[in-house]
Amino acid sequence: MLLGLFETAGPALIFAGGGWLIIRGHIGLGTVVAFITLLRRLYQPASQLAGLHVDLVTSYAYFERVFSVLDLTPSIVDGPDARPFPTARGAIEFRDVSFAYGRGTTDAVSHVSLRIEAGETVAIVGGSGSGKSTLAALLPRLYDPTHGAVLIDGIDIRTITLASLRSHIAVVHQDTYLFHGSIEDNLRYAKPEATLAELVEAARAAQIHDFIQTLPDAYGTIVGDRGYQLSGGERQRLAIARAILRNPRILILDEATSALDSVNEGLVLAALEPLLDGRTSLVIAHRLSTVMNAHRIVMLDHGRIVAQGTHDELSKQSHAYADLVRRQTLVAV
Ligand SMILES: Nc1ncnc2c1ncn2[C@@H]1O[C@H](COP(=O)(O)OP(=O)(O)OP(=O)(O)O)[C@@H](O)[C@H]1O
Ligand SMILES: [Mg+2]
Repeated sequence: MLLGLFETAGPALIFAGGGWLIIRGHIGLGTVVAFITLLRRLYQPASQLAGLHVDLVTSYAYFERVFSVLDLTPSIVDGPDARPFPTARGAIEFRDVSFAYGRGTTDAVSHVSLRIEAGETVAIVGGSGSGKSTLAALLPRLYDPTHGAVLIDGIDIRTITLASLRSHIAVVHQDTYLFHGSIEDNLRYAKPEATLAELVEAARAAQIHDFIQTLPDAYGTIVGDRGYQLSGGERQRLAIARAILRNPRILILDEATSALDSVNEGLVLAALEPLLDGRTSLVIAHRLSTVMNAHRIVMLDHGRIVAQGTHDELSKQSHAYADLVRRQTLVAV
């Protein structure tokens, strides 16, 4: 404010004072003009310096917000005697597991008992909100059950360190997030030490290599928020390539609900084959094709298991399952 006033009134004062000095013959006109020109050059940095204070106060407020988030302690942490879990066969057991998101809310998963053998693919089906994603989230301990226990190879996962538990599990999610960076960076996120040859091999297995080759900078193409936008199917195959790179014992696949065209659908299915092979997989399936390929199907309703078996068994025995297929909730392709 003061600086602004001085900037406006300053030259007038200097002309008045300078004019008087010129008349008295003390200085020349050139000196006054040069003085004012130089003074103007001084104003700009001086007012910038004054603005700096405002910027600093604003940034300080932002930093406080950021650090308050960074300082949050996660509710799920390693127990005092948590041990690493170096090798896993990958047999999973949900033992009478219930989970509610909040105190007093109804259970999103209710008394689920389910064994999945090592190497088995189990499809989880059910209407929207039936608890499929929630059940899967209990495995990498995004939440802990409010009742019961989840075991891998007979060990309660709460006794394993989070880092080693999660190193055995890969999740291919409903909507995969790609961060702003090259395709290569996005793939390497899954395995930082991977060589380019490994990345290409994983991309080939996930049926996305040929597509990447058609992009302007191939593996160097920038994707993400402000980069090249990939379609849902392409993002999903990139996510599958990431999971192949991680090479986990246990795989959780939360299939995208959005319909893919038949070309993309075929590519995604082909990409899934090497990923599911030999791993314990929990597949939340929205497509009949994926369900048919599973060893076993488990149907959830309001968080409870209401039926399980193969597609043929369930089609005959379970009205609810036949209904699900008929209502096209499971999209046949
Ligand atoms: N973060 C959350 N906080 C509170 N409630 C939640 C949260 N996530 C899910 N729920 C609720 O838990 C229940 C089960 O949700 P979940 O996401 O597991 O369903 P879903 O079977 O995966 O459905 P969809 O097929 O639509 O993905 C729903 O009633 C849902 O509203
Ligand atoms: Mg879901």
